[in-house]
Amino acid sequence: MMPDQSVPEHVLDQLRMIVGASGLITAPGETAGYLEDWRRLYVGRSFAVVRPANTDELAQIMRLCHAHGIAVVPQGGNTSMVGGATPSPSGTELVISLSRMNRIRAIDAIDMTMTVEAGVTLRAAQDAATGQGGLLPLSIGSEGSAQIGGVLSTNAGGNNTVRYGNARDLVLGLEVVMADGQVWNGLRRLRKDNTGYCLRQLFVGAEGTLGIITAAVLKMVARPRETAVAFCAVASPEAALSVFARFQAHDPAAVQAFEYMSGLGVDLVLRLVEGTILPLAARADHYVLIELATPRPNAGLRQSLETVLEAAMEDGEVIDAAIAESDAQIRAIWRLREEHSEAQKRAGASVKNDVSVPVSSVPALIRGATAACAALLPGILVVPFGHMGDGNIHFNLVQPPDMAAADFLALDHAIMDTVAEIVRTLDGSFSAEHGIGQLKPYMMEDWRGGAELATMQKIKRALDPAGLLNPGKVLPSF
Ligand code: MLT
Ligand code: ZN
Repeated sequence: MMPDQSVPEHVLDQLRMIVGASGLITAPGETAGYLEDWRRLYVGRSFAVVRPANTDELAQIMRLCHAHGIAVVPQGGNTSMVGGATPSPSGTELVISLSRMNRIRAIDAIDMTMTVEAGVTLRAAQDAATGQGGLLPLSIGSEGSAQIGGVLSTNAGGNNTVRYGNARDLVLGLEVVMADGQVWNGLRRLRKDNTGYCLRQLFVGAEGTLGIITAAVLKMVARPRETAVAFCAVASPEAALSVFARFQAHDPAAVQAFEYMSGLGVDLVLRLVEGTILPLAARADHYVLIELATPRPNAGLRQSLETVLEAAMEDGEVIDAAIAESDAQIRAIWRLREEHSEAQKRAGASVKNDVSVPVSSVPALIRGATAACAALLPGILVVPFGHMGDGNIHFNLVQPPDMAAADFLALDHAIMDTVAEIVRTLDGSFSAEHGIGQLKPYMMEDWRGGAELATMQKIKRALDPAGLLNPGKVLPSF
Protein backbone atom coordinates (compact mmCIF):
# COMPACT_ATOMS: atom_id res chain seq x y z
CA MET A 1 0.00 0.00 0.00
CA MET A 2 1.28 3.48 -0.83
CA PRO A 3 1.41 5.95 2.05
CA ASP A 4 -2.01 7.56 2.39
CA GLN A 5 -2.20 10.77 0.32
CA SER A 6 -3.78 12.67 3.20
CA VAL A 7 -0.52 12.29 5.16
CA PRO A 8 2.04 14.72 3.78
CA GLU A 9 5.39 13.17 2.93
CA HIS A 10 7.13 15.65 5.23
CA VAL A 11 5.25 14.16 8.19
CA LEU A 12 6.74 10.77 7.37
CA ASP A 13 10.13 12.46 7.09
CA GLN A 14 9.70 14.01 10.52
CA LEU A 15 8.62 10.71 12.03
CA ARG A 16 11.75 9.16 10.50
CA MET A 17 13.85 11.90 12.02
CA ILE A 18 12.41 11.20 15.45
CA VAL A 19 12.75 7.41 15.50
CA GLY A 20 15.39 6.73 12.85
CA ALA A 21 14.78 4.82 9.63
CA SER A 22 14.48 1.45 11.39
CA GLY A 23 11.78 2.80 13.72
CA LEU A 24 9.32 3.62 10.95
CA ILE A 25 7.65 0.87 8.93
CA THR A 26 5.73 1.71 5.77
CA ALA A 27 6.20 -1.38 3.56
CA PRO A 28 2.87 -3.24 3.38
CA GLY A 29 4.55 -6.61 3.86
CA GLU A 30 5.97 -5.37 7.16
CA THR A 31 2.98 -3.43 8.48
CA ALA A 32 0.49 -6.28 7.87
CA GLY A 33 1.05 -7.97 11.24
CA TYR A 34 0.11 -4.75 13.06
CA LEU A 35 -3.13 -4.27 11.16
CA GLU A 36 -5.02 -7.42 12.05
CA ASP A 37 -6.15 -8.51 15.49
CA TRP A 38 -5.27 -11.85 17.10
CA ARG A 39 -8.81 -13.19 16.64
CA ARG A 40 -8.87 -12.13 12.98
CA LEU A 41 -12.08 -10.20 13.49
CA TYR A 42 -10.72 -6.90 12.18
CA VAL A 43 -8.35 -5.90 9.40
CA GLY A 44 -7.39 -2.24 9.42
CA ARG A 45 -5.16 -0.06 7.25
CA SER A 46 -2.45 2.39 8.14
CA PHE A 47 0.04 4.58 6.32
CA ALA A 48 2.79 3.61 8.80
CA VAL A 49 3.74 1.89 12.01
CA VAL A 50 6.10 3.87 14.23
CA ARG A 51 8.21 2.23 16.92
CA PRO A 52 9.61 4.76 19.41
CA ALA A 53 12.55 3.63 21.53
CA ASN A 54 11.80 5.82 24.52
CA THR A 55 9.30 8.19 26.13
CA ASP A 56 10.89 11.28 24.66
CA GLU A 57 10.53 9.92 21.12
CA LEU A 58 6.89 9.10 21.77
CA ALA A 59 6.29 12.59 23.16
CA GLN A 60 7.78 14.09 19.97
CA ILE A 61 5.58 11.80 17.85
CA MET A 62 2.48 12.91 19.72
CA ARG A 63 3.41 16.59 19.40
CA LEU A 64 3.75 16.07 15.65
CA CYS A 65 0.46 14.16 15.41
CA HIS A 66 -1.27 16.79 17.52
CA ALA A 67 -0.01 19.56 15.25
CA HIS A 68 -1.22 17.75 12.11
CA GLY A 69 -4.42 16.23 13.52
CA ILE A 70 -3.19 12.67 12.93
CA ALA A 71 -4.99 9.96 14.90
CA VAL A 72 -2.96 7.19 16.52
CA VAL A 73 -3.55 3.60 17.61
CA PRO A 74 -1.25 2.46 20.43
CA GLN A 75 -0.35 -1.21 20.22
CA GLY A 76 1.49 -3.63 22.51
CA GLY A 77 1.48 -7.39 21.97
CA ASN A 78 -1.65 -7.19 19.78
CA THR A 79 -3.50 -9.77 21.88
CA SER A 80 -6.75 -7.84 22.37
CA MET A 81 -9.90 -9.95 22.37
CA VAL A 82 -12.03 -6.97 21.28
CA GLY A 83 -9.99 -5.35 18.49
CA GLY A 84 -8.73 -2.72 20.92
CA ALA A 85 -5.37 -2.21 19.19
CA THR A 86 -6.37 -2.57 15.53
CA PRO A 87 -6.69 0.57 13.36
CA SER A 88 -9.81 1.33 11.37
CA PRO A 89 -9.92 0.61 7.61
CA SER A 90 -9.61 4.36 6.87
CA GLY A 91 -5.82 4.20 6.49
CA THR A 92 -5.46 7.58 8.21
CA GLU A 93 -4.43 6.33 11.67
CA LEU A 94 -0.80 5.91 12.67
CA VAL A 95 -0.07 2.69 14.56
CA ILE A 96 2.33 3.27 17.47
CA SER A 97 4.00 0.06 18.57
CA LEU A 98 5.44 0.27 22.09
CA SER A 99 7.44 -2.95 21.71
CA ARG A 100 10.87 -1.28 21.57
CA MET A 101 10.28 0.33 24.95
CA ASN A 102 11.08 -2.87 26.74
CA ARG A 103 13.40 -2.00 29.59
CA ILE A 104 12.92 -2.98 33.20
CA ARG A 105 14.00 0.29 34.71
CA ALA A 106 14.23 -0.78 38.35
CA ILE A 107 13.31 -3.49 40.82
CA ASP A 108 13.31 -2.96 44.55
CA ALA A 109 13.04 -6.03 46.71
CA ILE A 110 12.43 -4.03 49.92
CA ASP A 111 9.77 -1.75 48.46
CA MET A 112 8.51 -4.81 46.55
CA THR A 113 8.06 -2.71 43.42
CA MET A 114 9.24 -2.87 39.84
CA THR A 115 9.38 -0.06 37.28
CA VAL A 116 8.81 -1.42 33.81
CA GLU A 117 8.31 0.11 30.38
CA ALA A 118 5.17 -0.46 28.35
CA GLY A 119 6.74 -2.82 25.83
CA VAL A 120 7.99 -5.37 28.36
CA THR A 121 6.02 -8.58 27.94
CA LEU A 122 4.08 -9.70 30.97
CA ARG A 123 6.20 -12.87 31.08
CA ALA A 124 9.47 -10.91 31.03
CA ALA A 125 8.15 -8.78 33.91
CA GLN A 126 7.10 -11.91 35.82
CA ASP A 127 10.54 -13.44 35.26
CA ALA A 128 12.28 -10.28 36.43
CA ALA A 129 10.19 -10.25 39.61
CA THR A 130 10.92 -13.91 40.23
CA GLY A 131 14.64 -13.25 39.70
CA GLN A 132 14.51 -10.84 42.65
CA GLY A 133 12.68 -13.29 44.90
CA GLY A 134 9.25 -11.73 44.36
CA LEU A 135 6.13 -12.51 42.36
CA LEU A 136 4.28 -10.29 39.90
CA PRO A 137 0.89 -11.81 40.56
CA LEU A 138 -0.83 -11.29 37.24
CA SER A 139 -1.27 -14.25 34.94
CA ILE A 140 -3.15 -14.38 31.65
CA GLY A 141 -3.15 -16.86 28.77
CA SER A 142 -1.38 -14.43 26.42
CA GLU A 143 1.33 -13.42 28.89
CA GLY A 144 4.16 -14.48 26.56
CA SER A 145 3.10 -11.81 24.02
CA ALA A 146 0.94 -9.32 25.93
CA GLN A 147 2.89 -6.22 26.97
CA ILE A 148 2.60 -4.23 30.20
CA GLY A 149 1.21 -1.14 28.44
CA GLY A 150 -1.67 -3.13 26.97
CA VAL A 151 -2.16 -5.19 30.11
CA LEU A 152 -2.64 -1.96 32.09
CA SER A 153 -4.58 -0.13 29.40
CA THR A 154 -7.10 -2.97 29.39
CA ASN A 155 -6.96 -3.59 33.15
CA ALA A 156 -6.34 -7.27 32.45
CA GLY A 157 -7.59 -9.77 35.02
CA GLY A 158 -6.72 -13.40 34.46
CA ASN A 159 -6.14 -16.36 36.69
CA ASN A 160 -5.00 -14.80 39.96
CA THR A 161 -7.56 -12.00 40.32
CA VAL A 162 -9.35 -14.06 42.96
CA ARG A 163 -6.37 -13.43 45.23
CA TYR A 164 -4.56 -10.29 44.07
CA GLY A 165 -7.14 -8.30 42.11
CA ASN A 166 -6.95 -7.01 38.54
CA ALA A 167 -4.07 -5.17 36.88
CA ARG A 168 -5.23 -1.86 38.35
CA ASP A 169 -4.77 -3.22 41.87
CA LEU A 170 -1.07 -3.72 41.17
CA VAL A 171 -0.28 -0.22 39.87
CA LEU A 172 1.37 2.32 42.16
CA GLY A 173 2.61 4.74 39.53
CA LEU A 174 2.44 5.53 35.82
CA GLU A 175 4.19 7.50 33.13
CA VAL A 176 1.86 8.64 30.36
CA VAL A 177 2.23 10.59 27.13
CA MET A 178 -0.84 12.75 26.60
CA ALA A 179 -2.65 13.55 23.34
CA ASP A 180 -0.71 16.80 22.88
CA GLY A 181 2.67 15.23 23.64
CA GLN A 182 2.97 16.36 27.26
CA VAL A 183 4.55 13.76 29.51
CA TRP A 184 3.06 13.02 32.91
CA ASN A 185 5.67 11.41 35.12
CA GLY A 186 3.73 9.79 37.92
CA LEU A 187 6.17 6.94 38.54
CA ARG A 188 5.79 7.14 42.30
CA ARG A 189 6.50 4.06 44.41
CA LEU A 190 4.28 5.07 47.29
CA ARG A 191 1.86 2.83 49.12
CA LYS A 192 0.07 5.92 50.39
CA ASP A 193 -0.35 9.06 48.29
CA ASN A 194 -3.62 10.94 48.70
CA THR A 195 -2.88 14.01 46.60
CA GLY A 196 -5.96 14.82 44.59
CA TYR A 197 -7.66 12.83 41.86
CA CYS A 198 -6.13 9.42 41.28
CA LEU A 199 -4.98 9.99 37.70
CA ARG A 200 -3.25 6.68 37.25
CA GLN A 201 -6.53 4.82 37.63
CA LEU A 202 -8.00 6.98 34.88
CA PHE A 203 -5.50 5.68 32.36
CA VAL A 204 -5.67 2.07 33.54
CA GLY A 205 -8.54 0.46 31.64
CA ALA A 206 -8.94 3.43 29.26
CA GLU A 207 -7.63 1.35 26.35
CA GLY A 208 -5.32 4.09 25.12
CA THR A 209 -8.16 6.57 24.56
CA LEU A 210 -7.00 9.12 27.15
CA GLY A 211 -3.20 8.89 26.98
CA ILE A 212 -0.48 6.39 26.13
CA ILE A 213 1.04 4.51 29.06
CA THR A 214 4.81 4.34 28.63
CA ALA A 215 5.95 2.92 31.99
CA ALA A 216 4.53 1.77 35.30
CA VAL A 217 5.47 1.03 38.87
CA LEU A 218 3.97 -2.34 39.76
CA LYS A 219 3.58 -4.03 43.12
CA MET A 220 5.25 -7.36 43.69
CA VAL A 221 4.17 -9.82 46.38
CA ALA A 222 5.99 -12.55 48.27
CA ARG A 223 6.79 -15.57 46.16
CA PRO A 224 4.94 -18.76 47.16
CA ARG A 225 6.99 -21.39 48.93
CA GLU A 226 4.39 -24.06 48.24
CA THR A 227 1.93 -24.56 45.40
CA ALA A 228 -0.65 -27.32 45.07
CA VAL A 229 -2.92 -27.85 42.08
CA ALA A 230 -5.91 -30.14 41.55
CA PHE A 231 -8.09 -30.87 38.54
CA CYS A 232 -11.55 -32.17 39.43
CA ALA A 233 -14.61 -33.47 37.71
CA VAL A 234 -17.61 -31.94 39.46
CA ALA A 235 -21.27 -32.86 39.36
CA SER A 236 -22.69 -29.50 38.22
CA PRO A 237 -22.02 -25.76 38.12
CA GLU A 238 -23.67 -25.59 41.56
CA ALA A 239 -21.24 -28.23 42.83
CA ALA A 240 -18.35 -26.18 41.38
CA LEU A 241 -19.52 -23.13 43.34
CA SER A 242 -19.87 -25.17 46.48
CA VAL A 243 -16.31 -26.51 46.11
CA PHE A 244 -15.11 -22.90 45.78
CA ALA A 245 -16.96 -21.96 48.96
CA ARG A 246 -15.36 -24.92 50.77
CA PHE A 247 -11.85 -23.75 49.85
CA GLN A 248 -12.67 -20.17 50.84
CA ALA A 249 -13.91 -21.39 54.19
CA HIS A 250 -10.90 -23.68 54.71
CA ASP A 251 -8.10 -21.17 53.97
CA PRO A 252 -9.10 -18.14 51.87
CA ALA A 253 -5.56 -16.75 51.92
CA ALA A 254 -4.30 -19.79 50.00
CA VAL A 255 -6.72 -19.73 47.04
CA GLN A 256 -4.54 -18.57 44.13
CA ALA A 257 -6.87 -19.59 41.29
CA PHE A 258 -10.26 -21.23 40.92
CA GLU A 259 -11.22 -21.94 37.32
CA TYR A 260 -14.28 -23.59 35.81
CA MET A 261 -14.33 -25.54 32.53
CA SER A 262 -17.20 -27.23 30.73
CA GLY A 263 -16.89 -30.82 29.50
CA LEU A 264 -17.26 -29.65 25.91
CA GLY A 265 -14.45 -27.12 26.29
CA VAL A 266 -12.05 -29.71 27.70
CA ASP A 267 -13.10 -32.16 24.93
CA LEU A 268 -12.13 -29.54 22.32
CA VAL A 269 -8.73 -29.00 23.96
CA LEU A 270 -8.03 -32.74 24.13
CA ARG A 271 -9.08 -33.21 20.50
CA LEU A 272 -7.45 -30.16 18.92
CA VAL A 273 -4.35 -29.36 20.98
CA GLU A 274 -1.47 -31.79 20.71
CA GLY A 275 0.04 -33.23 23.87
CA THR A 276 -2.88 -32.51 26.21
CA ILE A 277 -4.18 -35.29 28.44
CA LEU A 278 -7.11 -35.73 30.80
CA PRO A 279 -5.67 -36.70 34.20
CA LEU A 280 -8.91 -38.45 35.22
CA ALA A 281 -10.36 -41.90 34.42
CA ALA A 282 -13.48 -40.59 32.68
CA ARG A 283 -14.71 -37.41 31.04
CA ALA A 284 -17.30 -35.26 32.80
CA ASP A 285 -19.61 -32.38 31.95
CA HIS A 286 -18.02 -29.94 34.39
CA TYR A 287 -14.53 -29.46 35.78
CA VAL A 288 -12.72 -27.13 38.16
CA LEU A 289 -9.03 -26.34 38.55
CA ILE A 290 -7.90 -25.25 41.98
CA GLU A 291 -4.51 -23.74 42.71
CA LEU A 292 -3.47 -23.13 46.30
CA ALA A 293 -0.27 -21.25 47.05
CA THR A 294 1.36 -19.61 50.02
CA PRO A 295 4.60 -17.95 51.08
CA ARG A 296 4.18 -19.56 54.54
CA PRO A 297 6.67 -22.34 55.24
CA ASN A 298 5.38 -25.87 55.91
CA ALA A 299 1.80 -24.93 55.16
CA GLY A 300 0.72 -28.42 54.11
CA LEU A 301 -1.25 -27.30 51.08
CA ARG A 302 -1.46 -30.78 49.61
CA GLN A 303 -3.12 -31.94 52.81
CA SER A 304 -5.55 -28.99 52.54
CA LEU A 305 -6.46 -30.02 49.01
CA GLU A 306 -7.05 -33.61 50.08
CA THR A 307 -9.11 -32.66 53.14
CA VAL A 308 -11.43 -30.33 51.25
CA LEU A 309 -11.78 -32.55 48.19
CA GLU A 310 -12.51 -35.67 50.26
CA ALA A 311 -15.35 -33.91 52.03
CA ALA A 312 -16.69 -32.63 48.71
CA MET A 313 -16.51 -36.16 47.29
CA GLU A 314 -18.42 -37.58 50.21
CA ASP A 315 -21.17 -35.05 49.52
CA GLY A 316 -21.26 -35.95 45.83
CA GLU A 317 -19.97 -32.59 44.58
CA VAL A 318 -16.63 -33.87 43.33
CA ILE A 319 -16.78 -36.98 41.15
CA ASP A 320 -13.06 -37.52 40.68
CA ALA A 321 -9.90 -35.52 41.32
CA ALA A 322 -6.23 -35.51 40.30
CA ILE A 323 -3.66 -33.72 42.43
CA ALA A 324 -0.46 -32.71 40.63
CA GLU A 325 2.65 -34.54 41.91
CA SER A 326 5.25 -32.42 40.10
CA ASP A 327 5.78 -29.12 38.33
CA ALA A 328 5.34 -30.95 35.02
CA GLN A 329 1.92 -32.19 36.16
CA ILE A 330 0.98 -28.69 37.32
CA ARG A 331 1.84 -27.38 33.85
CA ALA A 332 -0.10 -30.21 32.16
CA ILE A 333 -3.21 -29.43 34.20
CA TRP A 334 -2.95 -25.70 33.50
CA ARG A 335 -2.60 -26.44 29.77
CA LEU A 336 -6.10 -27.94 29.77
CA ARG A 337 -7.35 -24.56 30.93
CA GLU A 338 -5.01 -22.25 29.03
CA GLU A 339 -5.49 -23.91 25.65
CA HIS A 340 -9.24 -23.19 25.64
CA SER A 341 -8.90 -20.10 23.44
CA GLU A 342 -6.62 -21.87 20.96
CA ALA A 343 -8.85 -24.97 20.79
CA GLN A 344 -11.91 -22.82 20.18
CA LYS A 345 -10.11 -20.97 17.43
CA ARG A 346 -9.25 -24.28 15.76
CA ALA A 347 -12.84 -25.54 16.13
CA GLY A 348 -14.14 -22.78 13.82
CA ALA A 349 -15.71 -19.38 14.24
CA SER A 350 -16.48 -18.37 17.79
CA VAL A 351 -18.30 -15.59 19.58
CA LYS A 352 -16.86 -14.60 22.94
CA ASN A 353 -18.80 -13.20 25.86
CA ASP A 354 -16.42 -12.09 28.56
CA VAL A 355 -19.03 -11.47 31.25
CA SER A 356 -19.18 -11.23 35.01
CA VAL A 357 -21.85 -11.76 37.63
CA PRO A 358 -21.73 -11.96 41.41
CA VAL A 359 -19.82 -15.17 42.22
CA SER A 360 -22.92 -16.73 43.75
CA SER A 361 -24.78 -16.32 40.42
CA VAL A 362 -22.29 -18.18 38.22
CA PRO A 363 -24.37 -21.40 38.11
CA ALA A 364 -27.48 -19.40 37.15
CA LEU A 365 -25.48 -17.67 34.42
CA ILE A 366 -24.20 -20.93 32.99
CA ARG A 367 -27.63 -22.56 33.01
CA GLY A 368 -29.58 -19.53 31.82
CA ALA A 369 -27.24 -18.53 29.01
CA THR A 370 -26.81 -22.13 27.84
CA ALA A 371 -30.56 -22.53 27.45
CA ALA A 372 -30.96 -19.14 25.77
CA CYS A 373 -28.18 -19.79 23.22
CA ALA A 374 -29.45 -23.30 22.42
CA ALA A 375 -32.89 -21.80 21.76
CA LEU A 376 -31.39 -19.08 19.55
CA LEU A 377 -29.34 -21.45 17.41
CA PRO A 378 -29.87 -25.20 17.76
CA GLY A 379 -26.55 -27.08 17.41
CA ILE A 380 -24.47 -24.17 18.72
CA LEU A 381 -21.52 -25.37 20.85
CA VAL A 382 -21.72 -23.77 24.28
CA VAL A 383 -18.28 -23.59 25.84
CA PRO A 384 -18.32 -21.61 29.10
CA PHE A 385 -15.08 -21.50 31.09
CA GLY A 386 -12.99 -19.18 33.14
CA HIS A 387 -12.42 -17.41 36.37
CA MET A 388 -15.25 -18.73 38.52
CA GLY A 389 -13.69 -17.38 41.70
CA ASP A 390 -14.14 -13.86 40.29
CA GLY A 391 -17.62 -14.48 38.85
CA ASN A 392 -16.00 -13.98 35.41
CA ILE A 393 -17.06 -16.58 32.87
CA HIS A 394 -15.97 -16.60 29.24
CA PHE A 395 -19.34 -17.63 27.90
CA ASN A 396 -18.01 -18.56 24.48
CA LEU A 397 -19.94 -20.10 21.64
CA VAL A 398 -18.47 -22.09 18.79
CA GLN A 399 -20.25 -22.50 15.46
CA PRO A 400 -22.22 -25.67 14.74
CA PRO A 401 -19.82 -27.84 12.68
CA ASP A 402 -22.12 -27.88 9.63
CA MET A 403 -22.62 -24.11 9.47
CA ALA A 404 -20.57 -21.66 7.40
CA ALA A 405 -18.29 -19.54 9.62
CA ALA A 406 -19.52 -16.31 8.02
CA ASP A 407 -23.18 -17.21 8.67
CA PHE A 408 -22.34 -17.88 12.30
CA LEU A 409 -20.38 -14.65 12.72
CA ALA A 410 -23.27 -12.71 11.18
CA LEU A 411 -25.18 -13.69 14.33
CA ASP A 412 -22.55 -12.24 16.68
CA HIS A 413 -24.66 -9.37 17.99
CA ALA A 414 -27.72 -11.60 18.36
CA ILE A 415 -25.64 -14.08 20.39
CA MET A 416 -23.93 -11.38 22.47
CA ASP A 417 -27.27 -9.70 23.18
CA THR A 418 -28.86 -13.04 24.15
CA VAL A 419 -26.12 -13.73 26.70
CA ALA A 420 -26.15 -10.11 27.85
CA GLU A 421 -29.85 -10.30 28.69
CA ILE A 422 -29.21 -13.19 31.09
CA VAL A 423 -26.23 -11.29 32.54
CA ARG A 424 -28.45 -8.26 33.08
CA THR A 425 -31.01 -10.25 35.05
CA LEU A 426 -28.16 -11.36 37.32
CA ASP A 427 -26.79 -7.82 37.87
CA GLY A 428 -23.62 -8.57 35.94
CA SER A 429 -21.40 -6.79 33.44
CA PHE A 430 -21.15 -7.24 29.66
CA SER A 431 -17.35 -6.98 29.79
CA ALA A 432 -15.38 -8.35 32.71
CA GLU A 433 -11.71 -8.29 31.73
CA HIS A 434 -11.38 -8.00 27.93
CA GLY A 435 -12.58 -4.39 27.74
CA ILE A 436 -14.67 -2.70 25.05
CA GLY A 437 -12.28 -2.17 22.12
CA GLN A 438 -14.16 -1.81 18.84
CA LEU A 439 -16.32 -4.89 19.45
CA LYS A 440 -18.52 -3.53 22.22
CA PRO A 441 -18.90 0.29 22.03
CA TYR A 442 -22.38 -0.33 20.61
CA MET A 443 -23.39 -1.76 23.99
CA MET A 444 -22.18 1.22 26.04
CA GLU A 445 -25.27 3.42 25.63
CA ASP A 446 -27.57 0.65 26.74
CA TRP A 447 -25.45 -0.52 29.69
CA ARG A 448 -23.65 2.61 30.87
CA GLY A 449 -25.84 5.37 29.39
CA GLY A 450 -26.89 8.37 31.49
CA ALA A 451 -24.59 10.03 33.98
CA GLU A 452 -21.90 7.33 33.71
CA LEU A 453 -21.37 7.50 29.95
CA ALA A 454 -21.83 11.29 29.92
CA THR A 455 -19.03 11.63 32.48
CA MET A 456 -16.77 9.35 30.45
CA GLN A 457 -17.45 11.47 27.37
CA LYS A 458 -16.60 14.67 29.27
CA ILE A 459 -13.30 13.17 30.44
CA LYS A 460 -12.49 12.12 26.87
CA ARG A 461 -13.26 15.61 25.54
CA ALA A 462 -11.09 17.17 28.24
CA LEU A 463 -8.03 15.00 27.64
CA ASP A 464 -8.30 14.38 23.91
CA PRO A 465 -10.55 17.05 22.41
CA ALA A 466 -9.51 16.28 18.84
CA GLY A 467 -10.17 12.56 19.25
CA LEU A 468 -6.66 11.53 18.21
CA LEU A 469 -6.18 8.68 20.68
CA ASN A 470 -7.40 5.25 19.58
CA PRO A 471 -10.51 6.49 17.77
CA GLY A 472 -13.60 4.30 17.67
CA LYS A 473 -12.62 2.36 20.79
CA VAL A 474 -14.53 2.25 24.08
CA LEU A 475 -16.98 5.14 23.54
CA PRO A 476 -19.74 5.07 20.92
CA SER A 477 -19.26 8.84 20.47
CA PHE A 478 -17.99 11.79 22.48
C1 MLT B 1 -8.85 -16.69 29.04
O1 MLT B 1 -9.04 -16.47 30.25
O2 MLT B 1 -8.36 -17.76 28.63
C2 MLT B 1 -9.25 -15.65 28.04
O3 MLT B 1 -9.46 -14.43 28.73
C3 MLT B 1 -10.49 -16.09 27.40
C4 MLT B 1 -11.12 -16.19 26.09
O4 MLT B 1 -10.57 -16.78 25.13
O5 MLT B 1 -12.28 -15.77 25.94
ZN1 ZN C 1 -9.85 -14.81 31.05
